[in-house]
Amino acid sequence: MKLNWGERLAVNNPLRVVQQGFEVRWFKQRARVPEGLRVLEIGCGRGAGAELLLREFRPRELHATDLDLEMLRRAEVYMDPAALARATLTVADAVRLPHRDEAFDVVFGFGVLHHIPDWRGALREVARVLKPGGLYCLEELYPSLYQNALTKHFLLHPTEDRFHGTDLRGELPRTGLRLRDTFEVPRIGLLAVCERPR
Ligand SMILES: C[S@@+](CC[C@H](N)C(=O)[O-])C[C@H]1O[C@@H](n2cnc3c(N)ncnc32)[C@H](O)[C@@H]1O
Repeated sequence: MKLNWGERLAVNNPLRVVQQGFEVRWFKQRARVPEGLRVLEIGCGRGAGAELLLREFRPRELHATDLDLEMLRRAEVYMDPAALARATLTVADAVRLPHRDEAFDVVFGFGVLHHIPDWRGALREVARVLKPGGLYCLEELYPSLYQNALTKHFLLHPTEDRFHGTDLRGELPRTGLRLRDTFEVPRIGLLAVCERPR
């Protein structure tokens, strides 16, 4: 689902970049992935996360995708030209990725899954494009934060089949992913590192 004005305000600002910086460092510490890998980011928005991933993980290839062409146009303006030259930006729905099976060593998603009506399908798709032993690092928010009595008036999200941490934990094994590490703030959201078992 494309972002409305409230969501754009929430993600396209400097504070969000600072937050993502902390998250990327948490992932780096927990996932311990070497440099030179093939990395995918789903729902990359204006590319702030992609820049951080390039700097912290030094991948051989970084593919950054988003459903919304306008967000990728923003990325072309926002990203440093040197970073932009090292990234491949593609319009793609996370539920139908245009990549072959087992194409990536690591997949990242910052605040994207809860925007997807078929989030279970997106998890299956992440598992499909990950190599055995590959990692999926995600930041997600819960409906108690983005769909409460106040926020539902200015943040637009799918309303059916929403997930909290327990739902996510229950779905991961069904999609072929195993939870390796997590940092959860109850009723707010979580950071997680998942693995596609070998
Ligand atoms: C909350 S924003 C987060 C953007 C960026 N990752 C960040 O953290 O600043 C969610 C992003 O996911 C994208 N998105 C929504 N549904 C999607 C889908 N089905 N497939 C891929 N991207 C999607 C939106 O266009 C938006 O850019």
